[in-house]
Amino acid sequence: MSRAPFQLALLNGAHDRTTFNSGSAPLDRYLREQVTQDVRRRVAACFVATTDGKRIAGYYTLASASLLLAELPASTGKKLPRYPTVPAVRMGRLAVDQGFKGQGLGSALLADALGRAARSEVAAYALMVDAKDDAAANFYRHHGFVTLPDSPRTLFLPLATAQAV
Ligand SMILES: CC(C)(COP(=O)(O)OP(=O)(O)OC[C@H]1O[C@@H](n2cnc3c(N)ncnc32)[C@H](O)[C@@H]1OP(=O)(O)O)[C@@H](O)C(=O)NCCC(=O)NCCS
Repeated sequence: MSRAPFQLALLNGAHDRTTFNSGSAPLDRYLREQVTQDVRRRVAACFVATTDGKRIAGYYTLASASLLLAELPASTGKKLPRYPTVPAVRMGRLAVDQGFKGQGLGSALLADALGRAARSEVAAYALMVDAKDDAAANFYRHHGFVTLPDSPRTLFLPLATAQAV
């Protein structure tokens, strides 16, 4: 198991998208077949971790999103202005190659996404994620994310909280 330090960068043509294997076929296929179109159309930004500038050890995507105020837990919603929605950043996908799992890379990618969203000059209240299954939801809960009461696979973390952490 490799313990090499990781470099994080925006996905570019030097990165090898063909050998990535997270154990989740849809996440691997997305990286191989779809992500470059989404980046070109500006519907997603993709950040990758590599050990050598080429082989992808993990990746995540970010895009603008919004959360319906009515969907947030009441205790959160009552602290926000009465607009129908609050701005958010969605981490649409997060995956780590099986050869690099359990080394803190998933956490590091999540922290990087939170930092980017929190530093952006475009305001967003929270980072939100759509967990693909219960294990993924548990991963996010482990990192302090809160579940939407009526959509248990959608979780969010207020960026003010993330900055404090
Ligand atoms: C979920 C995933 C990104 C985690 O990546 P990873 O690099 O193996 O995770 P890390 O080594 O960074 O784990 C960090 C911490 O999260 C915890 N953790 C990891 N997976 C977890 C899970 N499913 N549930 C709860 N906690 C979890 C670890 O125990 C560790 O805790 P610690 O820091 O307190 O010791 C990775 O397993 C993956 O790519 N899975 C397949 C795709 C997927 O489910 N993506 C999620 C988005 S839909």
